[in-house]
Amino acid sequence: MQSKDLGSDWRVMQFGSEYLAPEYYDRILKKYGTQDGLHEDLDLLTDFLNERPSNGSILELGCGSGRATRVITDIDHYHDLTVTDLSKQMLDFVQRQEGSKISEYEQSDHIEFLQKAKKEFNTIISLWSFAHSVFPWYARHGQGAFKMIEDILTNFFVQNLKGGGAVFIIQTDGASEEQKLIKQSWFLGDGILHKRLLESEYYSDFQSPSIRILDSVFATLLKGSIFDSTETNVTQVTGNEIEYDSLDEALEIFMNFHLEGEFNGTPAFTPIYDFLKLEFEKIVKAKGKLAIGTGFWIYKAKKK
Ligand SMILES: C[S@@+](CC[C@H](N)C(=O)[O-])C[C@H]1O[C@@H](n2cnc3c(N)ncnc32)[C@H](O)[C@@H]1O
Repeated sequence: MQSKDLGSDWRVMQFGSEYLAPEYYDRILKKYGTQDGLHEDLDLLTDFLNERPSNGSILELGCGSGRATRVITDIDHYHDLTVTDLSKQMLDFVQRQEGSKISEYEQSDHIEFLQKAKKEFNTIISLWSFAHSVFPWYARHGQGAFKMIEDILTNFFVQNLKGGGAVFIIQTDGASEEQKLIKQSWFLGDGILHKRLLESEYYSDFQSPSIRILDSVFATLLKGSIFDSTETNVTQVTGNEIEYDSLDEALEIFMNFHLEGEFNGTPAFTPIYDFLKLEFEKIVKAKGKLAIGTGFWIYKAKKK
């Protein structure tokens, strides 16, 4: 059964090699933003793009269903937009909505795209997406993936980000209440790299390699005076608590959105489901409602 069959039981949805279908993604996605509830992720992106206006080329890595893409196409000073995603159905969905406002669509793994890119960009953005491409590189190359991705990303910023250009990346914070539950679920289910790496080899201080790689690349580029220290910063943001109407809603979102339906139809489904249900019940008992804390990192840079 395909995920686009919206009427079906979420427990039996299978996503295969594609990510979630865009319509289903939009339907179950919750709003992520700052703890005070004043700024959603797209507000933070809008502020960033307004602070650093550019009439040049812009790259969005991991456009998904086009939430951030629409922010860009609504700003009239961007005329040359390239969007990438590994999912063909996400790109097709965005193309149907944005059409000719986008110059190039590229179906690619992020890191492969960065490795091969020839084009130069004035602005590079990515929301909640970069980490998705780090898992498969670890699956293929083990611990060696760290240095490979670090080098590819560093070279990309040196060669493909124009002088004066800007970067805006949002990534989940592995130390948040939500991400700790997700991490435990992946390991319960053998999901991350099928135990080819121990949890302690993958995470450090709760942070996934994608965060540690970005930290290292930003530090190198600041040290080498490629990034401008006055306009480059990495910020850990405490996010809003996401409230769920029911245990079932939260279970669907965790199993099918955060865990991408990976365990549906497998023996790991029941242990993970039971684990999450128990944790959600504990949260309801402690807080009086099913509200789960989120958090994220924002990486902003300006090239000299
Ligand atoms: C959580 S969604 C974020 C989408 C969008 N940026 C947003 O904020 O709504 C993650 C996106 O990463 C894409 N993706 C998954 N694995 C990928 C990979 N290895 N390389 C590139 N994109 C990937 C998925 O298809 C999905 O569109």
